[in-house]
Amino acid sequence: MAGPVRQTACRLLSAVAGSGSSGAVSDDCVGAMARIIPGIFKHTRCRNSVYPHSDVRRYPVPDESVFWTQTYADYQPPVHESPVLQGKEWADPDIDNPSFKPNWNELDGKVNRVSFIGAYEIRDGCPLNPFGRTGIRGRGVLGRWGPNHAADPVVTRWKPDGPDGRPLVHPASGKRVLQMCAIERQDCGEWAIPGGMVDPGEKVSATLRREFLEETMDNDAGEMAGEVEQFFAAGTEIYKGYVDDPRNTDCAWMETVAVNFHDGSGSVVGRFPLHAGDDAAQVRWMDVGEGVKLYASHSNIVKRVVDMLEAHW
Ligand code: BGC
Repeated sequence: MAGPVRQTACRLLSAVAGSGSSGAVSDDCVGAMARIIPGIFKHTRCRNSVYPHSDVRRYPVPDESVFWTQTYADYQPPVHESPVLQGKEWADPDIDNPSFKPNWNELDGKVNRVSFIGAYEIRDGCPLNPFGRTGIRGRGVLGRWGPNHAADPVVTRWKPDGPDGRPLVHPASGKRVLQMCAIERQDCGEWAIPGGMVDPGEKVSATLRREFLEETMDNDAGEMAGEVEQFFAAGTEIYKGYVDDPRNTDCAWMETVAVNFHDGSGSVVGRFPLHAGDDAAQVRWMDVGEGVKLYASHSNIVKRVVDMLEAHW
């Protein structure tokens, strides 16, 4: 990619991801940039597949037709609205319901309709996915038209090398091995960061702590409640933006804020009473490395934590 384009994209990335980059263009930046910049990154998980929890096949979207700026005369995606959405208080009404008058691109009452990517376009009355075509119109299983906001707490510690708790150093890289607290999602059986949706009016910091507690401690930290509270008071934001999520459609998509909470001494999180709850089937400390396979864009998020903490990959 040409230097100036690359630099502009990296500056954009810093703005979107809040990484506070000094403007230097590193290979890391290019890699991360390719993942999330609209007009450069081409989503794959929400294209050319059968829509989750349905038998609705997405209209084919070849690489050269992903962006709205590219013409695709034959594009005729099916409309899919899951029956699950009917009557749910976390879901918007139908788009053609006369009483539904959303304030797009704004904080709409308590519902955050602002995208981290910037202002999204409204076409034929529906918000347009800023990352392009997905082969499906309607909301699928997502509750909100436009951005659906999630929060992902990446809770990490160094993998202990024996009972004295010293960090294990990987012989190949000479770097310490990182472990993250991961859950197995009940909806798809994939391992994931224990994240979840931001409730209307909820602060992201509250969602991060609430989701972690619900999914990894079944909402009961017991005697550790105070320490858990304190631990979640200090995190480092590592990603903010679009997620290449299999549920995305042309009119509804996932965005997330991912924050790392690292226990450098290993003395706090090791005592958390972990047991799966809410949407989680299992919970465990998972070694993080190149082969790690996680839900949606979670591996990309975790890789950013690895780079930041200079851990083994
Ligand atoms: C999950 C988050 C994830 C987001 C986007 C939410 O349902 O709980 O962990 O980042 O979807 O994929």
